[in-house]
Amino acid sequence: MSDPVLEARSLKRYYEVGGGMFRPSATVKALDGASFTLRAGQTLAIVGESGCGKSTLARVVTMIEDPTEGELLIDGEPALGNSRKMRQTIQIVFQNPYGSLNPRQKIATILEEPLKLNTDLGARERRRKGQETMERVGLRPEHYERYPHMFSGGQRQRIAIARALMLEPRIIVLDEPVSALDLSIQAQVLNILNDLQQELGLAYLFISHDLSVVRHIADEVMVMYLGKVAEAGYAKTVFANPAHPYTAALLSATPVAEPGREKNRIMLKGELPSPLNPPPGCTFNPRCQYATDRCREIMPVLEGDGERKVSCHFPLD
Ligand SMILES: Nc1ncnc2c1ncn2[C@@H]1O[C@H](COP(=O)(O)OP(=O)(O)O)[C@@H](O)[C@H]1O
Ligand SMILES: [Mg+2]
Repeated sequence: MSDPVLEARSLKRYYEVGGGMFRPSATVKALDGASFTLRAGQTLAIVGESGCGKSTLARVVTMIEDPTEGELLIDGEPALGNSRKMRQTIQIVFQNPYGSLNPRQKIATILEEPLKLNTDLGARERRRKGQETMERVGLRPEHYERYPHMFSGGQRQRIAIARALMLEPRIIVLDEPVSALDLSIQAQVLNILNDLQQELGLAYLFISHDLSVVRHIADEVMVMYLGKVAEAGYAKTVFANPAHPYTAALLSATPVAEPGREKNRIMLKGELPSPLNPPPGCTFNPRCQYATDRCREIMPVLEGDGERKVSCHFPLD
């Protein structure tokens, strides 16, 4: 197995919200203790419904925001406070390819800017590298002098990927990179990401609310619910045999038929509770068809072996 490039230990990110004249402020535990290891050349998928803390995790891991608590290690060394090394090592691609590119900048400027800010490369070398990277993501040389509005959503996302590659990172955080794209275009972008991973040995933290997107590309998967890890492990194990009723419910909601999965067919009912006021006990209990008194009182801890860990009093088998 390849070396760990990124390790997160009990990462938390809390937000204080709503403090007004007549109201006390409240705490949103957007991310409430996530630990994982990402290895070179591998894909760790982070999945869960909208609002479960995936983008918060992405912002903390890329140091756009500091964690409230917890540790981040790159190559086994503390990364927090070492932002230059972080930028070189970790890059991010956001969901919305329309909002993430400056409409007033040509592709040339968008791609060369990270080199200008972070390297000593001269104008000619920056240009050569920008064009080379553009070709890597399947765009043509004449695209280089164009503006973002001249491109489709899929092309824009490729530009965002090219920009993320400019500093030769080893890790890319992909926050719902294909969720805004048409299905046919999704496959193209996923293929490019897959090719880049093979060629460059990149590690991906691939965030998606849609299990059908990640099931073919993930080596490992971490399922989140209300800021906490519900289940984590090898993608093969987790997808073939989900242990957490929430994972089983997410899988049941994806259309791909798989033999043997019928036994754990679970419908996800109800809405995600407000993270401002999570239910006591296991936070999934109001939506869980197997919940008992124990589940309504005691939050289970994440337990298991190297293959898979689950946070549930009554894991499925
Ligand atoms: N800056 C913020 N201030 C207050 N609450 C936030 C902030 N960012 C995110 N949240 C809340 O944290 C929770 C997780 O959000 P997010 O990480 O965006 O989830 P996801 O990406 O899985 O949809 C949500 O309830 C969201 O409203
Ligand atoms: Mg998000």
